[in-house]
Amino acid sequence: MPCQTKSISRRDCLKVAGITLAATAVTCSGLGFVATRKPDIPTPDLVFGDETILRDRILVAYATRAGSTVEIAIAIGESLSQRNYIVEVRPVIDQPDINPYQAVIIGSAIRMGNWLPEAVEYIKHNQQILNQKPVALFTAHMLNAGDDETSRANRLAYLNPVREILTDPEEAFFAGKMDFTKLSFLDRMISRMVGAVEDDLRDWDKIRTWAQAVFK
Ligand SMILES: Cc1cc2nc3c(=O)[nH]c(=O)nc-3n(C[C@H](O)[C@H](O)[C@H](O)COP(=O)(O)O)c2cc1C
Repeated sequence: MPCQTKSISRRDCLKVAGITLAATAVTCSGLGFVATRKPDIPTPDLVFGDETILRDRILVAYATRAGSTVEIAIAIGESLSQRNYIVEVRPVIDQPDINPYQAVIIGSAIRMGNWLPEAVEYIKHNQQILNQKPVALFTAHMLNAGDDETSRANRLAYLNPVREILTDPEEAFFAGKMDFTKLSFLDRMISRMVGAVEDDLRDWDKIRTWAQAVFK
């Protein structure tokens, strides 16, 4: 990997090259299966709200790797149901049918600067119907969580590919959680090499306040 471009320092470039080499070595050494095996992360399917008296349904579909986005989706579901909606919280990997819902919230964790591919695929697959309903997106991330202009621009960029598919969705960005016990060996190794530390930055008041205001 040539380490001469100006947009990335030589030190960072060597770090990235080192991580790539180490990951390739682990993957090719026959330890690939062990290295990429993930801990079991539950992906629950939950319904909030009294279905005998309420009619309007909202879907909260989530994509996760280590589980913290699931807990955010559940907090959003609980809060929204207090506004007299039936709220279904479901994983995008189950490809929930969007037709029964009056509005849809889709949330994803960030990995390597991107929404998880299954969440983007789900939106692409349902583009037409999503663009006929109120849609809101939330993103769980650890980097670029600050109030400065650069952090703001960087986190907004996480959604660029999705904004090409959807017409004017509402957007929210929530600081997430880094828990090494929930990562595969390879992800843990990459996380440690880039200097990531375990932390839970989720702001439950911010998450619930957003759920109280979304679609108003
Ligand atoms: C391998 C790896 C790569 C990550 N890459 C990014 C990133 O590029 N930008 C960012 O803001 N957060 C990044 N994160 C942090 C996650 O987005 C954050 O921990 C999130 O809460 C994870 O959600 P989940 O627990 O639902 O998977 C990364 C985490 C891991 C483990």
